[in-house]
Amino acid sequence: MRKITIALLVMFVSLGITQAKEAQPGAPGLGDSYFPDLGNGGYDVRHYTLNLDWDEATNVISGAVTLEATATHDLSAFNLDFLGFDISAIRLDDAPAGFSRSGRELTIEAADGLKTGQDFSLTIAYSGVPGDGVPRYYDVFARGWTRYEGGVYVASEPNGAAFWYPVNDHPLDKATYRFEITVPQPYVVAANGLLAETREDDDTITYVWESHDPIASYLVTVNIGSFVVEQTQGPDGLPIRNYFPPRVFQQAIVTFHRTPEMIAFFSDMFGPYPFEAYGVVVADHNLSFALETQTLSLFGSSAAAGGGNSENVVAHELAHQWFGNSVSLAEWKDIWLNEGFATYAAALWLEHTQGAEAFDRYMRDLYLPLATPALALGRFLPPGNPPPDNLFNGGVYVRGAWLLHALRLRIGDEAFFSVLRTYYDRYQYANAATADFIAVAEEISGQDLAAFFESWLYDERVPEVPEMGLKPLSPRR
Ligand code: TRP
Ligand code: ZN
Repeated sequence: MRKITIALLVMFVSLGITQAKEAQPGAPGLGDSYFPDLGNGGYDVRHYTLNLDWDEATNVISGAVTLEATATHDLSAFNLDFLGFDISAIRLDDAPAGFSRSGRELTIEAADGLKTGQDFSLTIAYSGVPGDGVPRYYDVFARGWTRYEGGVYVASEPNGAAFWYPVNDHPLDKATYRFEITVPQPYVVAANGLLAETREDDDTITYVWESHDPIASYLVTVNIGSFVVEQTQGPDGLPIRNYFPPRVFQQAIVTFHRTPEMIAFFSDMFGPYPFEAYGVVVADHNLSFALETQTLSLFGSSAAAGGGNSENVVAHELAHQWFGNSVSLAEWKDIWLNEGFATYAAALWLEHTQGAEAFDRYMRDLYLPLATPALALGRFLPPGNPPPDNLFNGGVYVRGAWLLHALRLRIGDEAFFSVLRTYYDRYQYANAATADFIAVAEEISGQDLAAFFESWLYDERVPEVPEMGLKPLSPRR
């Protein structure tokens, strides 16, 4: 009797175990509240190798992407994000693997299953023109690989990486990269990290770039053009390589000449520069934006020629290397942690170079549109929950930056800069959320800041700043 009970018990327990251990398909998303289908669950990518040829006449890219990953669950199948292209073969640990596609989800079958903790490698061979056959390829967000007359740039924030390579497309899964990009001579290729080697063939040249620091997929960039390289150094011998089009070379040298000083300044303010290199790439094309692609920020030709407030934008993209690239978002909803911080960092650079009065004037000028109902409407929304289809509205930049300034006025300079340094130190090379920043601010200041953050992040009307005598205007009736 007793024996039978024990035998039954053993049977139930082992049944339970087998059931819990049964391999499942990985989740098709990473739980981002704004973009539930971005990224995928069940595995963690450590390294990507992008081996791609580019055809100048057709803009066809063809080749193979290999990723080295580790299963985080027992998997029967798992997904990547990938849109468009013809896939010719997929190999999982050197055996052909079945796959299916639906929208941005590419599902790979793991015929033998993958066990929790198991390392695997996956190679996907594909070719095609980026965007071909993809519905709504052009919309508000960047779509990755972009052809212009002089070459190619890649700008993917927040979800464009999947439009040019198969990827776990969410900042929660950062990975290191190796790029082997083959182009017709004499094109030049600039990508993230360090140039490891070039190999010349009859008519083509292969550029091998390596990024030893993990990158979020939206910050991965490949640029093809007729670049001239400027090599300089930042603090402690940090390599700086700038890729400029010959047409704007002389002006670009001037526009970016304070980069080493800026790196030194931000390193003092926030903590050491996080990566193995820095520099910029300038597309010979008029872009309406700049992007903080990791170790190699991307600019358009007019900004590089000194148009607009270019020193401010140069500082902004550099500051993102700390806030956005090293400290990454856990969720896209928290985009103000990137844009508010970079905007305020550029203002701090202005304070550093032009003094307190110029800085005060600058911050006041930023406040005015926030506080003017006719201007604020739709353009400067509360930064804590921007609309997913208007993620980069002015509110996350300007009101996000003003939130930080209001915090500084409230807790004082010493506590404020200690908050920035502590937050950076704690979340560098990792991911953070708004709640993490609030927790650091409360811990360092010793104050209850719940109401302060609540109103700055979510109130429809911008809070008053009595310390500066600033009041939002009343809406007209
Ligand atoms: N992060 C960019 C900046 O520094 C803005 C941006 C958002 C962007 N999405 C983009 C740039 C897509 C290029 C492509 O302000
Ligand atoms: Zn920015």
